[in-house]
Amino acid sequence: MSDEFTLKVWRGDKSGGQEVEYHVPAETGMVVLDALHHIQHNQAPDLAVRWNCKAAHCGSCGAEVNGQPKLLCKTRMDDYAGETVSVRPMQTFPVIKDLVTDVSWNYQVAKEIPLLEPTSPAPFKMQQIDADRVQEFHRCIECFLCQDTCHVLRNHEGQQKYFGPRFMAKIAEFEMHPMDGEDRIPLLAHQAGLNMCNVTKCCTEVCPQHIRITDNAIIPLKERVADRYYDPIKILLRRLGGKKGEPGKANTPVAN
Ligand code: SF4
Ligand code: SF4
Ligand code: FES
Repeated sequence: MSDEFTLKVWRGDKSGGQEVEYHVPAETGMVVLDALHHIQHNQAPDLAVRWNCKAAHCGSCGAEVNGQPKLLCKTRMDDYAGETVSVRPMQTFPVIKDLVTDVSWNYQVAKEIPLLEPTSPAPFKMQQIDADRVQEFHRCIECFLCQDTCHVLRNHEGQQKYFGPRFMAKIAEFEMHPMDGEDRIPLLAHQAGLNMCNVTKCCTEVCPQHIRITDNAIIPLKERVADRYYDPIKILLRRLGGKKGEPGKANTPVAN
């Protein structure tokens, strides 16, 4: 390990900015957030970086390290041995200052999603497979790294058309709950823009919680939308039976 790390940190605000080079004494086990704190304490006290837990739990410290969406508190400097490490704010969201972005659009999207509507009062029994399926989505820490990497959302105009992978996981959490009685399929087919996703799996690759967003949320939700709107036999059966229909409840999750 060399004696020091070299970082290029984006400094600026919504009016513009540029990368500024800093040198930090190398320490074993140092993560990118440690290096940024060293810069704050010794060279640039006005450097803005958001963090809370420093334990990969709160989701606050998302940024782009050498072009990849990462948690700054979980990304080790020695993963980039011998390289200059570029640290930039998440491109999908408007910059407030330096590495801090305004992620409030996500909270507006969250309000558009109907909450769980239990068909009977708690307590109720669930099969273990149903509990496991929903539990995977519960692991989300709302870091929004998946939203940052999604090519639909990185083009900011796409935010008018698609809720993004974090919210496909949120909708799947509700839709796959066996006691849920709400119908979010029309929302998925229209306002939430599920058809904008072309299943590149980039979101799954960056998720620090290893949630299989594409395999276990997006693809099953796409199947439900297709069943509802495009399967002629199921459409006919639902019309004959006079039921709203709930296709696809038994999609099998992909294990981590
Ligand atoms: S799989 Fe879909 S949601 Fe995930 S990054 Fe690709 S386009 Fe976006
Ligand atoms: S799904 Fe994963 S990447 Fe997306 S916000 Fe949740 S924890 Fe972060
Ligand atoms: S500081 Fe909480 S996730 Fe990084």
